[in-house]
This record gives sequence, C-alpha cells and structure tokens, in this order.
Amino acid sequence: MNFKKNKIYIENIEAKNIAKKFGTPSYCYSFNKLKKNIQSFKNNFKSINPLICFSVKSNSNLQILKEIRKFGIGADVVSKGELLIALKAGINPKKIVFSGIGKTFDEIKFAIEKNILLINAESESEINEIEKIAKNKNKKIDIGIRLNPNINAKTLKKISTGKNEDKFGIEELNFLKILKKLKNSKYLNIICLSVHIGSQITDYRPYEKMISVVDKIIKKSKHKFDFIDLGGGMGIKYDNKAKSLNYKKYNLIIKKFLKKHNVKIIFEPGRSIIADTAVLLTKIIYIKKTNKKNFIILDAGMNDLMRPALYGSTHQIIPLKKNNKVINKIHDFVGPICESTDKFLSLKKYQKVNEKDILAIYDVGAYGMVLSSNYNLRTKPPEIMIKKSSLRVILKRQKLNNII
Ligand code: LLP
Repeated sequence: MNFKKNKIYIENIEAKNIAKKFGTPSYCYSFNKLKKNIQSFKNNFKSINPLICFSVKSNSNLQILKEIRKFGIGADVVSKGELLIALKAGINPKKIVFSGIGKTFDEIKFAIEKNILLINAESESEINEIEKIAKNKNKKIDIGIRLNPNINAKTLKKISTGKNEDKFGIEELNFLKILKKLKNSKYLNIICLSVHIGSQITDYRPYEKMISVVDKIIKKSKHKFDFIDLGGGMGIKYDNKAKSLNYKKYNLIIKKFLKKHNVKIIFEPGRSIIADTAVLLTKIIYIKKTNKKNFIILDAGMNDLMRPALYGSTHQIIPLKKNNKVINKIHDFVGPICESTDKFLSLKKYQKVNEKDILAIYDVGAYGMVLSSNYNLRTKPPEIMIKKSSLRVILKRQKLNNII
C-alpha cells in the first residue's frame, strides 16, 4: 500500500479502481507484500534453517495457500477442513503438522491416512485415541506433544495460550509422566515437543522464557526429540507507534538452544506472513452527525472483520484520497450490524470525509476473512489479489441466493 499524489495504490493499481470494479466491502491482497514477508521471515531465521508451516487458521484462501506453497512452505492445520485445503493447495503432507485440543476420531484417522509429518497431541485422552487408531492400523505413528509452559506472553488477554489456566497443551509434570509412559510404546513415536504461547507477541522475552522451559524439560526427560515446534505468534505493527518483535534476538536465543540440542525447529507463523498483505475496502454509506460525535457508517461490519469487536483490537482506517481538512470531533467508524460492538475504531479527529467515499481498513490479511460470518444474513465479501499488475478474484463475493 502506498500513496501517490494523495491517493492509495496497492502495488501499481489505484485502490479506488479496485473498489469500482469489484464493489465494497472487498478484501484486497498484494502478492508482492506476501512474497516480501515470506522472504524476510526466512531471512530472519536463515541460520537455523527451520521448517516453516503456515498457520492456515489465519488465512485459508486456497489461492493464497497455493502461492505460499510455491515458497516451499508447509502448513499448520487444526481441522479436517484445513488439512483438506492444505492438501488441495499441493502442500507436501510431510510438511504438515496438525494441532488443536479437540481433534475427533475421524480427524485423527484422516490425518494418519494422509501420512502427515506429525500430529501434535494436547491431552492424555487424545494420545490414547491416537494409539487406539494406530493399533487398529498396526502402524507406528509419529506424534508431538504440546507443552503448556505456564508463560504469560504479554499479549491481548483473549489470545494468550501459554498459561496453566489456558486450555492448551499439557503441564510440565504430566508431560514428563506421559513421556515416561510412552517410552516403549509399540504404536507411538514421540518425535516432537511443541509449544505455542500466544499470538501478536512483540516482546522477545516471553519467547526466551519459553525456550528455557523447553530446554529444562528436554534435560529432565532425557528424551530425544527430532523436532521442536515453537509455534507462531510473531506480532506485527498494527500502527506506527506499536513495537515490533526483535527477530535478531529471538533467532540468537534459538541458535544458543540448538548448540545444546540437535533438533529441527518448526515454526507455525500466521499473522506475520499474511496480516499486512491486505486491506478491506469499504464505502461510507451514511454520516450521522450527533452533538458529540460523527458516526461514519460503513458498508463493512463486524461480520466482515471481527477482530475489533472480538478482541478490542485496532486497525487503521485510511481514506483512499487524503486531504488536509481536519475535523476536530470524535469519529466512530461503525458497521451496519445491529450490535453496539460493531465498531471498528474511534478517533478524536479525522480528515473531512463524505458519504460514498471509500476507506481502507488496514492489516486485515490474518484472522480477517477466516473469521467472517453471515450474521444479520449478510453475504461474505470477495477476496482479490493483485499480482504482477493484474487483479484476480481469489474468492467470489457470496450471493444471497446461496445462503438463503
Ligand atoms: N500455532 C498455534 C498452535 C496457534 O494456536 C496459532 C494461533 C498459531 C500457530 C498462529 O499464530 P500467529 O502466528 O498467527 O500469531 N484470532 C486471533 C488470533 C488467534 C490465534 C490462534 N492461534 C486474532 O485475530 O488476533
């Protein structure tokens, strides 16, 4: 996204023309940005040569997954649906890991049949279920076990996953017990320790703590793991004032860890790869002026982009055409949904805008479209990708006919 003569361009196409052609609301992705993000993620961890498994939950568009696959990247999936779409995108099963606390019998069986790299189990009951299926098939299955390291990732409360009070992973003592119990298992091969402490993490220190817990557990258990799956969680800058993660430090911490342990590192990034590749284009339907505020009523609502309503998270909203006329009054950017939480942003001042103007909601590539719904019986927006100066619809706008 860049400005030329006060107008937003996505790569070299004026955003206004995209909105004109495809209507609003519309998700719009830049392939160039995606490529840059993948290259810089790879570069940041070049010295440790990790297996990168894109977290499909952050964006499961088939065409995007196909593009990502071309960079040699695998997938982190959490359901049969995500596994199916990853395979359909041509991702090598030996680069797919399956996480999640509630995998069903059917999902585990399917994953085993597809010969994926590993299933990361999150409870003793799940491990028993996998063992049962393996026994039935008379096959030895590679699995990972997810550790709950009891660490505060210092991120949004609603997306933290690494504390004992969170439902994810297995606590240290239990983890060690399970390892011992399965040492000579005929049907399970524990090849991986996995861990993921939360999302939108911008401070390297929780990661440092996480690695020291992993280090301690490996030493205590004396178990030989082939893989250590460090999850994802790397945060992005949703606004200019936000902090960004110090990848150099994180990489150094892992390098130090690898001097002691001969293992392959797996990462499961989602947001850091895809979040800032997309904007949501939306039109101002009405401007309602009250004594205290101007309500900027948009044609995108919380059903199109749920993050602000769900987590109180902030996305910048930028007019496609900038001007210098500032209105010093509270501006609430709201959607048409009949819920008070259907509000994207509240600002103390904003440039003068008019009804029918188009705005871009920034950084919506991760946990944007995947969280969209048909609430208020509204259709889901299309997804468009700009690649090499051409516009491609990578998911069509839903039609009311198809949901009624
Ligand atoms: N691995 C595991 C096991 C996860 O649970 C997640 C995210 C990831 C990897 C990818 O994390 P990332 O690199 O994208 O931070 N909907 C929320 C975020 C939920 C994250 C869930 N797990 C949001 O919009 O902020």
